[in-house]
Amino acid sequence: MLNHLQEILRLKEEKNALILAHNYQPRDVQEVADFVGDSLELCIKALELEDPDMVVFCGVDFMAETAAIINPCKKILIPDAGAECPMAHMLSAEDIRRAKILYPDAAVVLYVNSLAEAKAEADVLCTSANAVQVVESLPNEMILFGPDRNLAGYVSRRVDKKIIPLPEDGHCYVHKMFHEGYLHFLREQYPDAEMLIHPESDPEVQSLADEVLSTGDMVHHVARSQGETFIVGTEVDMITRLQRENPDKTFIPALNEAVCKNMKLHTVEKIKNCLLNGEVQVRVHEETAKKAKKAILRMFKASK
Ligand code: 13P
Ligand code: SF4
Repeated sequence: MLNHLQEILRLKEEKNALILAHNYQPRDVQEVADFVGDSLELCIKALELEDPDMVVFCGVDFMAETAAIINPCKKILIPDAGAECPMAHMLSAEDIRRAKILYPDAAVVLYVNSLAEAKAEADVLCTSANAVQVVESLPNEMILFGPDRNLAGYVSRRVDKKIIPLPEDGHCYVHKMFHEGYLHFLREQYPDAEMLIHPESDPEVQSLADEVLSTGDMVHHVARSQGETFIVGTEVDMITRLQRENPDKTFIPALNEAVCKNMKLHTVEKIKNCLLNGEVQVRVHEETAKKAKKAILRMFKASK
């Protein structure tokens, strides 16, 4: 009898399928994936798709929706449809329409961690890897930026524009967990370590970092760095990716409990069932997808 892994390999070939996984997926899911990356890299991968008839997307809802928006003719599947990003659900399309009336001169820049209906209201999207570049590319002096308040703050400290967070307190519950006191303690314990922090973290936490980086930029930074030890301030499975690619370096989590339980809903068994049954397919309403796609393509143009 075939185990899950052998069965996945067989089904992938039979269905001409590709498996994409975000950096926060656990080791066994990363190992069956054809490509592991950050939100931006996964968007680019989705845009480049030509060959596969079917894509199994191991990430949260907004990531799989983005792949479906870019590839309306491909079958995009998510192993567990309950894998939602709570931050993405903090901003509705209606909230954006209301803000546009209040700030008619502002451009709307949305973090890719947003719902398809919200994306359809945006002028341009961004990820944490290109947010500053995207905002700088716009002629507007005023920017409505959502849904992550901390990423909005990170951008506003780097550009000379007025950044208005939308909503007031959009946040990621995982990156809110980091604590300055514990980071000072880790600094004392590992004086030679480089501290890498994700921009979804609170500003006081970001201010302690050597580098504030998206998950993909953490991968590139560690590969280039002469450093041997790194304190990693993002979801804990980021270390799984970093350790796989850098077996001789040491990675210390900024907090062991920083787990995105939404990301962990996917399992190897669910990936197998997904390939077997062709479910659950991610669908985005055609009109919404058309508008959202424009904002996604503008992001690619702005961050080239
Ligand atoms: P990245 O774009 O850095 O992969 O981050 C996505 C995310 O959801 C972080 O919580
Ligand atoms: Fe959403 Fe936070 Fe999980 Fe990223 S870590 S997917 S922002 S809940």
